[in-house]
Amino acid sequence: MQYSYATRTAALLASPLRHIRDHARRHSFISLAEELPAQELFPVKLLDEAAHEVLTSGPAVLQYGDPEGYLPLREWLTAEWKSRKRMNVDPRQVLLTTGTQQAIDLVVRLMVNAEDPVLIEQPGSPGSLQVLSMQGARLIPVQADAQGTDLEALERRMAADRPKLFIAAPSFSNPTGFLWTLEQRQQILSLCQKYNVLLVEDDSYGELHLHQNEQIPPSVAALDDEGRGGHVLYIGSFSKTIAPGLRTGWVTGHPSLIEGMSALKQLADMQSSSMNQRLLHHLLTDHRFRWHDHLELLNREYRVRLKLMLELLKRPFWKEVTYHVPGGGMYMWVRLPEGLESATLLKAVMPKGVAFMPGALCTAGNSGNSYIRLNFSHPGREELLMGMNLIGETITEFTARRS
Ligand SMILES: Cc1ncc(COP(=O)(O)O)c(C=O)c1O
Repeated sequence: MQYSYATRTAALLASPLRHIRDHARRHSFISLAEELPAQELFPVKLLDEAAHEVLTSGPAVLQYGDPEGYLPLREWLTAEWKSRKRMNVDPRQVLLTTGTQQAIDLVVRLMVNAEDPVLIEQPGSPGSLQVLSMQGARLIPVQADAQGTDLEALERRMAADRPKLFIAAPSFSNPTGFLWTLEQRQQILSLCQKYNVLLVEDDSYGELHLHQNEQIPPSVAALDDEGRGGHVLYIGSFSKTIAPGLRTGWVTGHPSLIEGMSALKQLADMQSSSMNQRLLHHLLTDHRFRWHDHLELLNREYRVRLKLMLELLKRPFWKEVTYHVPGGGMYMWVRLPEGLESATLLKAVMPKGVAFMPGALCTAGNSGNSYIRLNFSHPGREELLMGMNLIGETITEFTARRS
């Protein structure tokens, strides 16, 4: 039978993102393309024990649970935010989601009509861009660089377009790893308040600090009356800090938003896995698992991997590229030599068994064509060496032909 898909779905299915992910998952393919944390650092043994404890505690653990999620885990999160993030949130104001991705999907479906203008940090995460395109949003890119966001341009766009949402990752964006300063956070929050824009603060990478001893400013949600101001929706997950396979994320914000998202979530999947939420809660409250030490371990390891990638970028292959050293997160955002497009380079390196994320998939419009995103958290040392050499060698083939 010939299936006739909705126009937007057909565009989603044709996206090169799916092709890259399919290839990258094949055994022996070196992927610097994906958003994968280091799996050697997953706390597998303690999770195994937690799974046993949870499953043997009685059949009720396998029953349908609270649609908003397992309350003790929501309480753990709010206690953590209170002590470390100066956020004062009622656990009933937290909705547990199937990762941050679902939180973004829910808020976009709740608020955005086709053609509605939405501000999106540029460059930004491919996943958010796809959700917005599926909803038919009119994307308004907000350019960010190492110096921060252009506030005058942002205000002009807010005044002219009256967007409902601004989706951004103030603490280490995917792909750039930029960090908004305290002053920028305050100024952007003031603009959101002035123009009635909801800031969707994606804190997926907020715990991954690559510069030792760097002070991370409070989240924008904390500045918005300790999370009670209603201008910020704070989202995040355990994907990058514990394991993405547990598919546990959260969203907190004004009760009316949480209520709306919860109603939509019940249409999508009733609730996220309460088994996984119990398992996580068990792990987080196990005295043998020290959450803050675990974060420190991840950060130490990722600093080593970033250092290796920076060393490799100093090799002659890469002499014509430019980049900024990320402050956090899991990626390097690299500008290719003049005249070389990331899609062309990707086509040339994939048959060699390596992939990266082409920059166009991290931007609205075509402005990302001359960039690539390289992941350094997942590949092991040998893979990283080989993958970077294969890509670098191919860049040199292009630049040699050009000159
Ligand atoms: C910025 C950003 N937000 C959200 C996600 C989705 O992650 P998850 O749904 O696993 O929390 C990702 C994935 O890597 C991401 O990079």
